[in-house]
Amino acid sequence: MSPPITKPTASLFSSASKPPPPLCTFLFFLLLCILGFYTLHHPHPNPREPKSALRYRNLFLSFSSNFTLASYLRALTLHPHLAGTQPSLDTTDYVYSHFKNHNLETHKVEYTALLSYPSHASLVAHFANGSAVNFSLTEISGKVGPDVVPPYHAYSPSGAAHAKVVFVNYGREEDYRSLEALGVNVSGCVVLARKGGGLSRGGVVKIAESNGALAVLLYVERDGKRGGRGVERGTVMRGVGDPLSPGWAGVKGGERLGLEDSEVLERFPKIPSLPLSCETADVILGSLRGPMVPREWRDSGLSMVGPGPTLVKFTYQGEKKEGTIHNVFAVIRGLEEPDRYVILGNHRDAWTYGAVDPNSGTAALLDIARRFSLLMRIGWKPRRTIILCSWDAEEFGMVGSTEWVEQNLVNLGAKVVAYLNVDCAVQGPGFFAGATPQLDNLLREVTKKVKDPDSEGATVFEKWAATNQVISIERLSGVDSDFVPFLQHAGVPSIDIYYGRDFPVYHTAFDSYDWMTKHGDPLFHRHVAVAGVWGLVALHLSDDSILPFDYLSYAEQLEGHKDVLSNLLVQSISLNPLITSIQEFTLAAKEAEDEARQLRWQERRGDNLALKLRALNDRLMLAERGFLDADGLRGRHWFKHLIYGPPGDYESKLDFFPGIADAISGSTGKSPRDQQAAIQHEIWRVARAIERATSALKGQLT
Ligand SMILES: *[C@@H]1O[C@H](CO)[C@@H](O)[C@H](O)[C@H]1NC(C)=O
Ligand SMILES: *[C@@H]1O[C@H](CO)[C@@H](O)[C@H](O)[C@H]1NC(C)=O
Ligand SMILES: *[C@@H]1O[C@H](CO)[C@@H](O)[C@H](O)[C@H]1NC(C)=O
Ligand SMILES: *[C@@H]1O[C@H](CO)[C@@H](O)[C@H](O)[C@H]1NC(C)=O
Repeated sequence: MSPPITKPTASLFSSASKPPPPLCTFLFFLLLCILGFYTLHHPHPNPREPKSALRYRNLFLSFSSNFTLASYLRALTLHPHLAGTQPSLDTTDYVYSHFKNHNLETHKVEYTALLSYPSHASLVAHFANGSAVNFSLTEISGKVGPDVVPPYHAYSPSGAAHAKVVFVNYGREEDYRSLEALGVNVSGCVVLARKGGGLSRGGVVKIAESNGALAVLLYVERDGKRGGRGVERGTVMRGVGDPLSPGWAGVKGGERLGLEDSEVLERFPKIPSLPLSCETADVILGSLRGPMVPREWRDSGLSMVGPGPTLVKFTYQGEKKEGTIHNVFAVIRGLEEPDRYVILGNHRDAWTYGAVDPNSGTAALLDIARRFSLLMRIGWKPRRTIILCSWDAEEFGMVGSTEWVEQNLVNLGAKVVAYLNVDCAVQGPGFFAGATPQLDNLLREVTKKVKDPDSEGATVFEKWAATNQVISIERLSGVDSDFVPFLQHAGVPSIDIYYGRDFPVYHTAFDSYDWMTKHGDPLFHRHVAVAGVWGLVALHLSDDSILPFDYLSYAEQLEGHKDVLSNLLVQSISLNPLITSIQEFTLAAKEAEDEARQLRWQERRGDNLALKLRALNDRLMLAERGFLDADGLRGRHWFKHLIYGPPGDYESKLDFFPGIADAISGSTGKSPRDQQAAIQHEIWRVARAIERATSALKGQLT
């Protein structure tokens, strides 16, 4: 039985009246004792803060349990749960029931979306010596159940190719130029590429297509010692969200484009592609003759690039079909500012078992729900509303989160304080984080409060600082996970955190609970740490009377971006608009900081500042929205953020100012004068965006 579906209303969700939580008296007193214990033994370090907020944060940390995290992960990963399939519905119900059982206001929101599944693939190689091999394209292993989807590229068209094979290294434009220099033309060939070099799967296919290839075979080099096996599935769709409802929500009965609509067709590659295992790729690559590989490609272990003499006969049959996807939400209403939202999100759907990707994050989300529910029983109510989100169909292109953001755009723009994303939460050792820069400080402070999972007596911060020369926080320009619609479309300050990176069983059938207990996090202490950092960040953002946003840090980062940019540009292009706008932004950031300091002082005196705090907080919240531009990026207008977003060119040297990056690399066919004018125009656009952020931060009309 599915629970009733509640559609979000103008305030994101209808306020459902909910029965009072059944209070277990014993538990209540037990918690009161813990609370008393904490008050006694944790003297208040910061006299400015209300004591209760600190107490709740300490309690939140003390409620951690690696056992519950492990049990959630076990339950979520019993079966593969690809979006749109029956086992995926079971995980939907599991998450929904979990929220409900913890007495949280729970919602389920459905959308219709175009998904993509494989029906048949074959690959036969004919070698020069006359022999042929019919490759098995499944992931062979006794442990892999029949319910694991075979390796494929979602949204690849069906098709066939019978042609010579060429090795194209990473499949970047520069790789094709190297081949050209060797006299190799890939037109009419099947290209075999290794994944890497900063190029997305879809990018490899797009470039191959433009170079005249008939099909793409893609493999991932794996280090066997790290447990790397299997074949990497993934999407090759361009853009994000449901392709049949671009820019609006795919609600049931709503407007949908047709499959043959040009706007839909341009989201998909025109040539078929398939992921291959390393072993299969090795057999084919080893049989190629022709020119020697360029020196820079030697680490591939190959000697000759082809084309041929090996011929492959490749077919792929897939099905694009509309399915129903389900986002699940738990809402904890804020006491003082119920109409301000702190959103925590993680996707639930997985290519296979999804122990790392994404359910290590889901386990953390469920544990945070459990712990927040415990806090509520002893009287905690956040100042602002917290929403826990479990997204569907992220693997197909951030579909669940994108549809929801598109549906709620106005309310999100006006009311969301921050979005906190966790995807592959635990991949191995080492803490990593991405954030918009006003959140850097909060992240650092919070990691000082959480125990490091791998070194006794150290905090996450100490270990993080010790393993890096400078603590580095990534910027969220990539199109990697569910922060994309929040930041790059809606301008919401965002964070993304994880333990470990580049885990070897990514998108394979081996991303299982078993792998997690053997390699990723045997004692589930890293899960505890991620949940701790994630939850504490949320508690600060929901409970601090003044939002812990540091725009001086943003100003510094903009300054840094400008310096990198200036090294790439010729003298005749003026950076003055950018320089001036950053100076003004810096002044506004200083003013906001002074104002916050003053308000904190008045707050300590006991003044009633509700409206003043609200006014400052709104300015802090809205400043990020200033970076949005109504027209968006040229040719990709869904991407509205002019500071962080994906550059159109896969080989761009900039991973910020995507509009400027596009103008710099979009040189082909333009006269130098026109190109300079285009770059100058994009610099002006960024400068105006920064000015909008400045005026939002100041909160004044001219
Ligand atoms: C290759 O093997 C598959 C599965 O065993 C089979 O269906 C297919 O007909 C074979 N193709 C050729 C050309 O032998
Ligand atoms: C490669 O071959 C195709 C078809 O023969 C031709 O149209 C194209 O111009 C060639 N490309 C280069 C770079 O020579
Ligand atoms: C033919 O060549 C392929 C590819 O190099 C090789 O794997 C296979 O063993 C060879 N077969 C014979 C019979 O030599
Ligand atoms: C939880 O941590 C304890 C202490 O390190 C460990 O003994 C236990 O096995 C862990 N539990 C799980 C499920 O990994």
